[in-house]
Amino acid sequence: MDLTEALRTTGAVREFSDDPVDDGSVFRLLDTARFAPNGGNRQAWRVVVVRDQAIRRALRDIYLPGWYQYLAQMAAGLTPWAVVTDRVLEDQAVGQADAIAEAAAAGPGGFAEHFDEVPVMLVLLADLTRLATVDRDADHYTMVGGASIYPFAWSILLAARAEGLAGVMTTMVVRDDAAVSELLHVPDTHLVAGVLALGRPVRQMTRLRRGPVEEFATVDRFNGPALEAP
Ligand SMILES: Cc1cc2nc3c(=O)[nH]c(=O)nc-3n(C[C@H](O)[C@H](O)[C@H](O)COP(=O)(O)O)c2cc1C
Repeated sequence: MDLTEALRTTGAVREFSDDPVDDGSVFRLLDTARFAPNGGNRQAWRVVVVRDQAIRRALRDIYLPGWYQYLAQMAAGLTPWAVVTDRVLEDQAVGQADAIAEAAAAGPGGFAEHFDEVPVMLVLLADLTRLATVDRDADHYTMVGGASIYPFAWSILLAARAEGLAGVMTTMVVRDDAAVSELLHVPDTHLVAGVLALGRPVRQMTRLRRGPVEEFATVDRFNGPALEAP
């Protein structure tokens, strides 16, 4: 597949066929993704391939409270857990999460409720002894650390596309990363970065909704003129 085409059309996939994904495929995805860019080439990623059903269910149970809080914030018109936000409004919204959870429990459930059933579940960890983070000592929110892990996650998703597989990067369990670390015996030198769910897609999302370049790129200054197509 053409690289540009792949970059423009690889969307999040949360519905998978029952077909199992063989171990060889999972190995190949990681074998390709390991060439991802990362700070200082320290390759601080670690991956736990979760096969044990009890551990999968426990991860689903860790995922769900955050998911209902996410839905509650979306319903209130908020960007969930935005770094800069109105915390009072956020707290009010999150207060509705239990009602959303109750309503969900009465239904068939979606991706979140069936999170434990995904064909492949990869927990991504960051090794803090190897994560090169130039903004580590900043007195504001830090950005750089994740940039050594998430390109690796994206490379797994692109490699999956090349194999006829698909999936989604999820971070909801990071809301309770202590519980995940305990569950997976992660030492405190490592942080949980997310969970990748992969499988054979029921359908591949290809029509992605994104804002145009003119809305996010400017020339010379933050408030400079929009970068226009030549
Ligand atoms: C850092 C990050 C965290 C995400 N966390 C979750 C998550 O916890 N659960 C989930 O279902 N999707 C999650 N996603 C997937 C996004 O919802 C998805 O990429 C976005 O909605 C765009 O979807 P599209 O490419 O299909 O248009 C995450 C994606 C990223 C990059």
